[in-house]
Amino acid sequence: MAVPFTSKQTYIDEFNPKDYLQTYYVAGEGRLQGEWADFALRNLHETFTTGGVRGDTLLDFGTGPTIYQLLSACEVFDNIIVSDFVEQNRAEFQKWLKKDPDAFDWTHIIKFVCELEGNGEDWEKKAEKLRSKVKEVLKCDALKRNPYDPVVVPPVDCLLSCLCLEVACKDTNSFCEVLKNFQDLIKPGGHLLLLSGLNSTYYHVGKKCFTSMVAEKEDLERALNEAGYQIEKAVYTPRTDKTWMDVSDYQTHYFIHARKPN
Ligand SMILES: C[S@@+](CC[C@H](N)C(=O)[O-])C[C@H]1O[C@@H](n2cnc3c(N)ncnc32)[C@H](O)[C@@H]1O
Repeated sequence: MAVPFTSKQTYIDEFNPKDYLQTYYVAGEGRLQGEWADFALRNLHETFTTGGVRGDTLLDFGTGPTIYQLLSACEVFDNIIVSDFVEQNRAEFQKWLKKDPDAFDWTHIIKFVCELEGNGEDWEKKAEKLRSKVKEVLKCDALKRNPYDPVVVPPVDCLLSCLCLEVACKDTNSFCEVLKNFQDLIKPGGHLLLLSGLNSTYYHVGKKCFTSMVAEKEDLERALNEAGYQIEKAVYTPRTDKTWMDVSDYQTHYFIHARKPN
């Protein structure tokens, strides 16, 4: 019997940020702090250095309780806006921002990015830099025409989204609609960076199982083209660690850099 797609209400009621961080990002055993973090952080590092993506404002969509995706961006953007659908995720992010003693410890990931940047010793300064660049923590909903309604976010230079759209959208039509709506959030010539997994049907957060839309490479690229973006770069890297398919069954990591035409 087909499993119903996870509803927005289920995210509100049952997405536990502490369980998410423990399952995926805790030092040593978090499922995503190995292969995924390596893939995402290297691609983001390259994009914000040799890739030349920079600007005034970066908007992170579906931030969840995580900061890893912003560590390279904070070197080349003055303003970072983070956003998530779930209140408890925004609260967890704020804990890190405010150095709450109960905040998640991202030291291992921050050190990794500092090493990529050739500044292994300066990891505390890096954390401070990111904190100083985050200007807003907003509520968003991918499934609304204006995801920030009633707030109107002025168009940004770069919209980033990691591991979010496949879990918010039930199919490729909905995915394409969201990308079309994102056009209003990006300046002409601005950048869209999407990082996630292909062919995933579920992921666990603690004991709770959440669904994902199955996306193939062709579905993604078709949706981006239909939504009016130009694809600048697409990287697909197969997952090699299959020891935890019971936790999440994605098959391939992907990174897409697309642009809104001028
Ligand atoms: C798998 S987590 C990814 C979190 C983080 N970006 C990361 O890279 O680890 C998926 C995120 O999507 C958010 N989300 C789910 N439905 C959403 C919606 N309709 N609009 C915006 N975000 C949504 C969840 O609250 C959650 O934070």
